[in-house]
Amino acid sequence: MKKLVFLVIIFLFILVFILANTIPKTQKIETPQLGKKAPPEMATPPPSSLDLLYPPKTEQPVYLFRMLGMATPFVGIMVDLFENEPQNVKANFDKFKVQYSEVSQLVPEWEKDFPIAPLEELEKALENGGQDKVMTAYEKVGKVCHECHEVNMVKVQQKYHWRDFRGIMTKDPLTDEKVNFTQLMQYLNTSFIGIIVDVEQGQSEKAQKQLQGFKARFQAMEETCEECHGAEERKYYIDESVKAMIDELGRTISSSSVNKSAVEKLFMNIGMESCFKCHLVHTPAALAKLQWAK
Ligand code: HEC
Ligand code: HEC
Ligand code: HEC
Repeated sequence: MKKLVFLVIIFLFILVFILANTIPKTQKIETPQLGKKAPPEMATPPPSSLDLLYPPKTEQPVYLFRMLGMATPFVGIMVDLFENEPQNVKANFDKFKVQYSEVSQLVPEWEKDFPIAPLEELEKALENGGQDKVMTAYEKVGKVCHECHEVNMVKVQQKYHWRDFRGIMTKDPLTDEKVNFTQLMQYLNTSFIGIIVDVEQGQSEKAQKQLQGFKARFQAMEETCEECHGAEERKYYIDESVKAMIDELGRTISSSSVNKSAVEKLFMNIGMESCFKCHLVHTPAALAKLQWAK
């Protein structure tokens, strides 16, 4: 029973932890009031003008590709400096400057985050400065990139490169009800914890029934992976080693005298290797989206 409580606490803990980190700090201590302090940048979605630069509005993630395009001449400056090719350094700088200016226009809210001064400083240093000046100026431009990435990169990834879990629909195999991914999780959780609750109460037959339900729901969950991952096989969370533990759990609860500590150990391992680790990968994006949808 202690392990069960522990596991439930872990689940609640991660969810609370993630939520706590996505909710603006000020909101936790005082009731939010309209017109008061704006929430910290990290907790807000990226500007919606980016919608025009990402699928479904465009075929490709345009902003990402422009970033990659801009990075090539920027890094090229450094490559050619080390290779001692001043002509190419200059050519890369010119390309970079054009791209920097174009990219800065793409998202009006971020235009101010592409200051022109560091660029001009780099241009001057490349023309007539020594190596130290060039390096200092180059780093200042790099800082411009880094400062925006620190705040915005993950948000953009979560918004545009992750699908919404709640938009994934399936059928709950036990009730035949049409459910979204989150509801399926809640049902899966009920079946999973149902197993251990019944074992603790010495109700072996009911525990076996819960396990059958758990397996069916686990299978339903597994079928949702391809919504995002396509036919690509994933090695973790639903792989053979997890399934072997589920089968082992089935055998352990069906034996004539149920070994409770063996059950608890298996239950714990499934919870960690499948549920918990998959949550570590997938819930940050899922819950960030949920916050922004509010
Ligand atoms: C894809 C990997 C993945 C696996 C494997 C997984 N989950 Fe989840 N789970 C998620 C995601 C993503 C969410 C958040 C969904 C949302 O609300 O947007 C979630 C949410 C939950 C929630 C919270 C639901 C709510 O109402 O907020 C519970 C409870 C849960 N999972 C239980 C489990 C259990 C139990 C297992 C293992 C038997 C499991 N999950 C396996 C991805 C996974
Ligand atoms: C105003 C914000 C902003 C500035 C300034 C900015 N970037 Fe970005 N950058 C982003 C965002 C947002 C992403 C994530 C795009 C995505 O994943 O779709 C990104 C992604 C990238 C990537 C792709 C990383 C990956 O995931 O593979 C590279 C490379 C990059 N930026 C280079 C640069 C360089 C070089 C500069 C500076 C000269 C720069 N960026 C300045 C916002 C910015
Ligand atoms: C809503 C979309 C979505 C769903 C549904 C989803 N994933 Fe993912 N998952 C992602 C994204 C995005 C990544 C990070 C990029 C990547 O690896 O493709 C990821 C990463 C992973 C990784 C880490 C990379 C690796 O392959 O080692 C694993 C493992 C994984 N997912 C397994 C699963 C499993 C198992 C399921 C179903 C139970 C599942 N995912 C369901 C979106 C999803």
